[in-house]
Amino acid sequence: MTDQTHPAGEADVLVEVRDLEVHFPIKSGLIFDRTVGHVRAVDGVDLTIRRGETYGLVGESGCGKSTLGKAILNLEPPTAGSVVFDGTDIASLKGEELRRARKRFQMVFQDPLSSLDPRQTVESLLVEGMRAHGLDTDEASTQARLRELMSAVGLPPSGLSKYPHEFSGGQRQRIGIARALSVKPDLIVADEPVSALDVSIQAQVINLLQDLQDELGLTYLVVAHDLAVVRHISDRIGVMYLGGLVEESGAAELYDVPLHPYTRALMSAVPVPDPQVEDSREQILLSGDLPSPANPPTGCRFHTRCPWRQETLCDTDRPELRVVEVAGASAGHRVACHYAEQVASGAIQPHEVEPALVAGGFAGPRELPQPPPDAYGTP
Ligand SMILES: Nc1ncnc2c1ncn2[C@@H]1O[C@H](COP(=O)(O)OP(=O)(O)O)[C@@H](O)[C@H]1O
Ligand code: SF4
Ligand SMILES: [Mg+2]
Repeated sequence: MTDQTHPAGEADVLVEVRDLEVHFPIKSGLIFDRTVGHVRAVDGVDLTIRRGETYGLVGESGCGKSTLGKAILNLEPPTAGSVVFDGTDIASLKGEELRRARKRFQMVFQDPLSSLDPRQTVESLLVEGMRAHGLDTDEASTQARLRELMSAVGLPPSGLSKYPHEFSGGQRQRIGIARALSVKPDLIVADEPVSALDVSIQAQVINLLQDLQDELGLTYLVVAHDLAVVRHISDRIGVMYLGGLVEESGAAELYDVPLHPYTRALMSAVPVPDPQVEDSREQILLSGDLPSPANPPTGCRFHTRCPWRQETLCDTDRPELRVVEVAGASAGHRVACHYAEQVASGAIQPHEVEPALVAGGFAGPRELPQPPPDAYGTP
């Protein structure tokens, strides 16, 4: 992790996302492939990732996190907007240039079993990427590198001759990470890297990612629907709702001073271990389900569910991410709500809503269990 108080100079920026949109056409008709609409998976995102930091992206399932992650890696072509990676607009790269640039950004997937070819040994999986980028020069140094990679992710060299199905879920994710590392990237986008793993294994993999970052100076974008995972690993966090960022701040501050009504609702849905605190704490209930990204609400995308919704602006004007003057909020804390100041001060109060489950598929922060001292690093 980086020092959060360190001001971001231009030189610190690795990825600059501007006005990014990724829309998927909705086709209809058996004979004629007519486009009848668009899923606005990512719909106007500005985001900056600084060199060496971990940026956590959270939001309900379907809000566009994976699509945004893929667009940043040029795996999903943007409909509009730009992604500038280390000074170069990646949309402008073609052919060999793009292929070379790909070495610098890698992805770690949620489900290592489906992202690792089951017919290849670990050795061949790891060599594949190295070969594609000319890093497999002579046998001796490749063998040394393979052992180094295995050791970096806490697996024995004997694992090289095995197949993915011979490993546990956590070990497979270690192989997925080794594979991403094999080409010496600058940026790793980890999309729900521990969601498929047992809670006890999650902390080990998260700790591994952190250790590797410290050692190798990596930059991470970690996507998760679980607030605990991003809190644990992130320097800064962006909260996404229906294709857009609604709040962004330093990780600790987001939990201490959540400003957007959606963020506050997410935080309030999280059980607190202390029963007295649990009984007295604020619970914010949201009405209705997540609207469809094919037909998002006008104005503030959250207005159909927002307990603070006001008569003016909310239904008609889309709020921009902006810095607000609220006690406890620092300059890097941005929120997309017309009434953020009044919500924070209590000048406007939430109205009663029909009790409904808050945000299906969203798990709040629970403490990540710490692995026993000897668990980390053992295969
Ligand atoms: N290739 C695709 N074609 C059409 N719709 C897609 C495609 N990929 C994602 N979507 C839709 O875009 C929205 C955002 O999806 P996704 O980025 O996977 O969200 P998340 O990762 O936050 O769960 C969803 O409504 C999803 O169904
Ligand atoms: S702009 Fe209005 S509807 Fe949107 S979050 Fe703020 S108060 Fe709620
Ligand atoms: Mg996803």
